[in-house]
Amino acid sequence: MAKLSIRDLQLEHKHVFIRVDFNVPLSDDGSQIMDDTRIRATLPTLEYALRNRAKVILASHLGRPKGKPNPSMSLRPVVDRLRQLLDHHLGEAVNVGFSPDCVGETAEETARQLESGQVLLLENLRFHAAEEKNDPAFAKQLAQLCEIYVNDAFGSAHRAHASTEGITHFVAQSAAGLLMEKELNYLGKALSEPDRPFVAILGGAKVSDKIEVIDNLLEKVDALLIGGGMAYTFLNAKGQKTGKSLLEADKLDVAREAMRKAEERGVQFLLPTDHVLADRFAADARTQVFSGDADFPADWMGLDIGPKTIDRFIDQIAQARTIVWNGPMGVFEMPAFARGTIQVAEAVADNQLATSIVGGGDSVAAVEQAGVADRITHISTGGGASLEFLEGKKLPGVEALTEKTA
Ligand code: 3PG
Repeated sequence: MAKLSIRDLQLEHKHVFIRVDFNVPLSDDGSQIMDDTRIRATLPTLEYALRNRAKVILASHLGRPKGKPNPSMSLRPVVDRLRQLLDHHLGEAVNVGFSPDCVGETAEETARQLESGQVLLLENLRFHAAEEKNDPAFAKQLAQLCEIYVNDAFGSAHRAHASTEGITHFVAQSAAGLLMEKELNYLGKALSEPDRPFVAILGGAKVSDKIEVIDNLLEKVDALLIGGGMAYTFLNAKGQKTGKSLLEADKLDVAREAMRKAEERGVQFLLPTDHVLADRFAADARTQVFSGDADFPADWMGLDIGPKTIDRFIDQIAQARTIVWNGPMGVFEMPAFARGTIQVAEAVADNQLATSIVGGGDSVAAVEQAGVADRITHISTGGGASLEFLEGKKLPGVEALTEKTA
């Protein structure tokens, strides 16, 4: 990686502003953290900074409060959880303070009082509209809190906001944190020098969400396995009517073009050849397995890939040496339509010869539901960010970091 790393910097006694992605799911009243994965993912960076005697200032957004303070999206509940996690991770008590505003006198005074080895968490950056507008005055205010800027928020790196991009114009050094580096290393290697065969598995509801990923991956992969709702648009593009299944009629040409490109490049393009159909979109719907390329019964809809497709996908996954997976194979939230997604998750985990990378909220939830998360090489903390990376786009939060010299 050509960007400066936190490991290149002298942190001792310095105020180090670390942009993290603590955009964690909270309970409806905003008091409980429902999943602390994103907080835990930053622990190596925080440990590194604290052991190097930095004065650590943490900033994040949470939710989309639209530029106004909103108590149900406060980062305050994160303080106790972070303290517990840090105490456990470092094996010693860590002082974690909180500033009820991320800029202004309170934030500046609390930051000034911070001692080396202590942590200060700032309130939700998006309580200020200036954050998402990437307002330079606001970015400068954030920069005033620190001498060094570190971006460890891979999940927000596709956003050009004040805390991810603007701030870098007002500090001397901007470096990647350890989580940011890890994400970029795994995803970067998969795209630039994958061990082969390289198999990508894409699912989810819409072709339109994934078309740029498909386009970019077709330049790189050996096989592309398509499942989920978007598969039906491809099947329609090949002339098979799919009843009441999801269909993006305006994307048929795009789907045809992707299949043409796959053929031209010699990429295996695997669509489902059998399906679990339902008579309505409900957990207790009547179901049937439908096989072959005849039209689906008109009143039925496909909600999962069928058993023959699962076997074909498992075969491909077993041969792979690099696997990238984004998007479920069916409506896995309903047990009757979860089999394809869960068996794909198990197959990915069972292939211990491959580097496996899973991104996107739904597929991450699926590997957790299947109980195989600890056998996946890398689970990305970025949803939108990992997709944009796979699309081949440059991430503003990464581009803005200082180049490494020599
Ligand atoms: C995410 O959850 O994908 C990131 O935290 C970015 O959140 P955003 O889509 O609200 O910018």
